[in-house]
Amino acid sequence: MWYSININACIIFIDLYLVWEFEMKSEVFNTELNYIKDEQIRESARYLLEELPDYFYVMPASTSGKYHPHFSLGEGGLVRHTKAAVRIAVELFRDNIFNTFEYGDRTQDLIIMALLLHDGFKQGKTESGSTKIEHPLLAAEFVFSNITKLPMKQMDTLQVRRLIASHMGPWDKDKSGNKILPIPRRDDEIFVHLCDYMASRNFLNINFVDNEIVDSVDRGQARTLKK
Ligand SMILES: [Fe+2]
Repeated sequence: MWYSININACIIFIDLYLVWEFEMKSEVFNTELNYIKDEQIRESARYLLEELPDYFYVMPASTSGKYHPHFSLGEGGLVRHTKAAVRIAVELFRDNIFNTFEYGDRTQDLIIMALLLHDGFKQGKTESGSTKIEHPLLAAEFVFSNITKLPMKQMDTLQVRRLIASHMGPWDKDKSGNKILPIPRRDDEIFVHLCDYMASRNFLNINFVDNEIVDSVDRGQARTLKK
């Protein structure tokens, strides 16, 4: 009897631990997932975020420290870069001039999903300590390989694959100069590249508190700065 109570307590503890572990990975992107209006697209994005390699959630955006702004360096830097790219997209969606996609809101949701996943395999399928130039293809194929498991429409999954594959823009060659990545050509592809490109500019300074973007200094601090 005593043993069974103890075993049950252990099982519950392990279950709680697993649930906690499971929730931890994608929860950091709850703000960004909630920008996605379509539930099936949002849940597909959440599912794939859980399946990304663990290193994605802790590595800096740039392993050398040369090519990304300060906020995306250090532990969790790639997560903050990803959040910045999504936020740039959301801000641009608010401007009708940029908001002219063929499929309207659905394409906006797919763009957010693509940005959430675009660097998910930055160091390859397992942690390697350096950026893999082919990482857009790895992430794109990862999305495609899950096509039958996702609640979203298959044609939408193919669109996300396309958006991720070309996100590097003009940086489409390996070290030997061989062209290995597609160039963004369609409006939605260029838009994804634009958001990733802007999020990685060195002059950019985005404030984060606990991995959440802070819109501006609070009023008290602003008054202090004016003096
Ligand atoms: Fe990126």
